[in-house]
Amino acid sequence: MTAASGRRLTQLDELVSLCARRGYIFPSSEIYGGINGFWDYGPLGVELKNNVKARWWQRVVRERADVVGMDSAIISHPRTWDASGHTEHFSDPMVDCRACKKRFRADQLDDIGPCSAREGTSEHDLTSPRKFNLMLETRVGASEDAAAAAYLRPETCQPIFTGFKRVREAARQKIPFGIAQIGKAFRNEINPRNFTFRSREFEQAEMEFFCHPDEREKWFDHWCNERMRFHQELGLAPDSLRTRPHGRDELAHYCKKAVDIEFRFPFGWQEIEGIHDRGDWDLSRHSEYSGKDLSVSAEDQKQRFMPTVIETSVGIDRLCLALLANAYAVEELDGGDSRTVLHLHASVAPIQVAVLPLSKKLADPAHALESRLRRHFNVFYDDAGNIGRRYRRQDEAGTPFCVTYDFDSVDDQQVTVRERDAMKQERITIDGVADYLREQLECTA
Ligand code: GAP
Repeated sequence: MTAASGRRLTQLDELVSLCARRGYIFPSSEIYGGINGFWDYGPLGVELKNNVKARWWQRVVRERADVVGMDSAIISHPRTWDASGHTEHFSDPMVDCRACKKRFRADQLDDIGPCSAREGTSEHDLTSPRKFNLMLETRVGASEDAAAAAYLRPETCQPIFTGFKRVREAARQKIPFGIAQIGKAFRNEINPRNFTFRSREFEQAEMEFFCHPDEREKWFDHWCNERMRFHQELGLAPDSLRTRPHGRDELAHYCKKAVDIEFRFPFGWQEIEGIHDRGDWDLSRHSEYSGKDLSVSAEDQKQRFMPTVIETSVGIDRLCLALLANAYAVEELDGGDSRTVLHLHASVAPIQVAVLPLSKKLADPAHALESRLRRHFNVFYDDAGNIGRRYRRQDEAGTPFCVTYDFDSVDDQQVTVRERDAMKQERITIDGVADYLREQLECTA
């Protein structure tokens, strides 16, 4: 059977429902009605996310001698956020509707919908804009006084700056070099929306590259190219990717220059990653606020200087959403049938191989094959129902290969390997199937 034609994702809702149905991503604490801006990843979602993080770590940290990793606490000393400028600047302008009591971002009033308190009219009764700090507050320890207040980090990079001296010395790194980490970040977004695109809890993969100020442009261009290449390697279609430099009026308080990598989502072109020239903002401010000198000395000179930071910052949840949107297709098949399929890149697909015996009677040898394959791949076993329907389920999960054990397999010691995209089927010996699959997965990776 071959796919005659395909339709890409046009409505985010289709993907949202597939993700819930298949256990990719669903609302957090769903049985209580969910909580706005928080999402849980199910069995397929967590595999996708882990694969994406592993690819990032491989490219950005392990394959380079000039980048090292760290994993910092989510809660930092509160002075960190004074120094970083977040206490003062990390806010959105917001307005309240006096009638329905809803809160909106003042710069996103185009699609706020009708006012629920004023039937028959879309007119909200809006206050003038006020600043709303996006950091989520918590309390540390039993004390109720203000000294115990702390923030959940709104970006993962600040502990990289506060730990800069320690990490550089421990790893015996010299400028230029980078420090990377992956972790959770929290923002009290006024309007979480577009599924996981804008959430209140999300994961970032950030890399801060410390260089001499004279080399800032070279490294900025280097990282823009590296990061664009990464997204293409994961299979994001080149015509759905673009870079967009920030205008002066858009720059964050720490930023001298910024380029966004944008993906064409069903709801328009939107940022998935930012590359930022943060200058010496963070190291200088932390030196000033902590009283600890974070400057470095140039190798060939006596004088010290504050390194410039080139940052790459990608949202893992946004990238997963882009990968899912990019992979989604509904295809008409010969014979009037159709299938929904996720053409996920093999290196990020949650399940690499599904083992599907044609009949439950073949469970024993099929389980033996499953155990052999589990040593090499993430394997899913399914012997329930009609084989066509089982293929469809794996297509929807994005599984690149299905291995079917049939009645002939017992005698000829061969299985049928079915490839997801072209739906091509090949007969392969059981002894050679692991090597065959590894080769095929590496070709596409
Ligand atoms: N340290 C720099 C920084 O945090 P940012 O542009 O605010 O820069 C970087 O965020 C990336 O984090 C974004 O490109 C996006 O992928 C992700 N991100 C930011 N806010 C997010 C949110 N509310 N929900 C999901 N991802 C978010």
